[in-house]
Amino acid sequence: MHIHPSILNADYANFARELDSISTADAAHVDVMDNHFVPNLTFGLGLVESLLKVTELPLDIHLMIENPETWAPAYAEAGAASVTFHLEAAKDPISLARTLRKLGSRSAIAIKPDTPVADVVELLPEIDMLLIMTVEPGFGGQSLIQSTLAKVAQARSEIRNSGLEIALQVDGGVTEDNIGELASLGANVFVAGSAVFRNPDRNGQISKLRALAKAHAS
Ligand code: DX5
Ligand code: ZN
Repeated sequence: MHIHPSILNADYANFARELDSISTADAAHVDVMDNHFVPNLTFGLGLVESLLKVTELPLDIHLMIENPETWAPAYAEAGAASVTFHLEAAKDPISLARTLRKLGSRSAIAIKPDTPVADVVELLPEIDMLLIMTVEPGFGGQSLIQSTLAKVAQARSEIRNSGLEIALQVDGGVTEDNIGELASLGANVFVAGSAVFRNPDRNGQISKLRALAKAHAS
């Protein structure tokens, strides 16, 4: 059970300190947005390179960008632990996933709430993690969309059927109230933005979320 706090709601003037405040996380989740694939703009490769210099935490890069083929490999080369691109944005997802693995990063594919799990099943052999978005990507602090829960269960069953070791990540509106249910449905990597960053005791909140997930593991 892995907790990946999203730095989307961190204090952007103090990233090094913000990363220190989540030192017990399993990785830091970095939301790269281009104001085209999603209606918001955040950070890019330069910031990620700087973050890698000031933290021991693995970085989990979530690319919400058009043309991921252009940018994703550079994040892997920079040293990201995992690079996630959106199926909806990729022109050749198989080749991109293979490139990411070749460059030494874990490869991952994300799907938005309206994209069916069936669309990603044939790509499972190419990836190390599948991200089921539980909100429309673009902003932190939204509520989890209930209809995405069935997709989490379906994704876990497809992963089981594949016989592959693939992490199942959920992102958006994850809180202490729903993390148990998400874990029981088969999720094992949890992105939590506001649930961690709005809490003054961030490491305390991370261990609480992890314990709740473990207690409900499927
Ligand atoms: C949303 C981002 C999320 C976001 C989650 O598009 O992908 O990673 O930071 O924030 P919360 O946990 O507040 O929904
Ligand atoms: Zn994200």
